[in-house]
Amino acid sequence: MNLQQLTETAGSLVVGAKGLLAMDESTGTCNKRFASLGIPQTEAARRAYRELIVTTPGLGEWISGAILFDETIHQQKEDGTLFVKVLVEAGIIPGIKVDTGARELAGHLGEKVTEGLDGLRDRLVEYSRLGARFAKWRAVIAVGDGIPSRGCIEANAHALARYAGLCQEAGLVPVVEPEVIMDGDHTLEQCSRVTERVLRTVFDQLYTQRVVLEGVILKPNMVLPGSACPTQEGVDEIADTTVRCLLRAVPAAVPGIAFLSGGQSAELASDRLNAMNVRFKSRLPWALAFSFARAIQQPALEIWKGNNTNVPAAQQALYHRAQCNCAARLGEYTTAMEKR
Ligand code: 13P
Repeated sequence: MNLQQLTETAGSLVVGAKGLLAMDESTGTCNKRFASLGIPQTEAARRAYRELIVTTPGLGEWISGAILFDETIHQQKEDGTLFVKVLVEAGIIPGIKVDTGARELAGHLGEKVTEGLDGLRDRLVEYSRLGARFAKWRAVIAVGDGIPSRGCIEANAHALARYAGLCQEAGLVPVVEPEVIMDGDHTLEQCSRVTERVLRTVFDQLYTQRVVLEGVILKPNMVLPGSACPTQEGVDEIADTTVRCLLRAVPAAVPGIAFLSGGQSAELASDRLNAMNVRFKSRLPWALAFSFARAIQQPALEIWKGNNTNVPAAQQALYHRAQCNCAARLGEYTTAMEKR
C-alpha cells in the first residue's frame, strides 16, 4: 500500500469546492430509469447517455471524480476514445463501483447484505490497470419495525471493511457507502439513531480490518425523515441533525464526507448541503461534499430522453447541477441560482 498516494487521491476527491458524480448505475437500475422516460433499454442507449455525461463541456470545473460501472469503464465515445481517457483529460479522476449488489440477508426478513467480495482482489488489480483510482461499495440499511437488526448492520459493516482493506492494498481509495434508505414512515430522530449506530459499527470494523482512515472517503446518507413520514423537517433542522450525527460517529482522520442523494430532489439536496456548510463549516474536521447520482443527473436525463438533438441542453442541465452543488459546498448556494 502506498499511503501517500492514497491520501493524495482522497484529498483530490474533495479538493476545493468539487465533488463526485456517481454514474455507476447497474444495468438494471439504468434500464429502470430509462424505461420510466421511454428511452430504449439497450447497451447503445446506455453508452450514448454516458458519452453525453463525460463529454459535458467544463464538467471538470466542478467534478473531481466520476464513479463508473463495469460496463461503462470499458466503453468508448463514438470516435473510439475510452471514457476513462475523456475523464482524465477533463481533470476528472475515474472511479468504479465494485460491489455486485444487495441480496436478501438469510434469516433477516426485509433486510439485505451487499455482495462482491469473492474475486475482488483480482478485479481491483484489473480496474486499476484500466485507470480507476478509487472504488465504491454500497450497503443498504432499511429502517422499519424492528429493523435494522444487529445482524444486518454487522454483516454490511464487515463487508465494507473487507472491501476497503482490499482497495487500499490495491492502491485505490475506498468510497465507503453505508446508505440508510429513505423508504418508510420513520422519523428524523429514528434516522439519526440508526445512522449513528451504523456509522459507529462501520468505523469499528474499518479499524478492526486495519483500514487507514486518511485514505478513505465516507459516502453516507443525509439524516432525513422517511419519505412517508408525515413530519418533514425544514432545511436547517435537517442540516443540524445530520452534522450532529456525523460529528459523533465519524473520526476526524477521515478527509472527506461525500453524501449520496438517495432520492431527494436535486434542489433540496443542494439546499441541505449548503445549510450544513453555512452553519458548521468552520467547525468541521472533514470536508462536507457530494457524490450524487440522481441529484446531478436526473434533470439532464429528463431533458435528453434518448434524443440526440437534446444533448446540448441536457449537458447544460448537468453542468448547472454540478455548479450548484459546488456552491453548496462553499455555503454560497441560493435558490435564485435555479432561475436560469
Ligand atoms: P443517489 O445520489 O442517486 O442516491 O446515488 C448515489 C449512489 O452512488 C448510489 O449508490
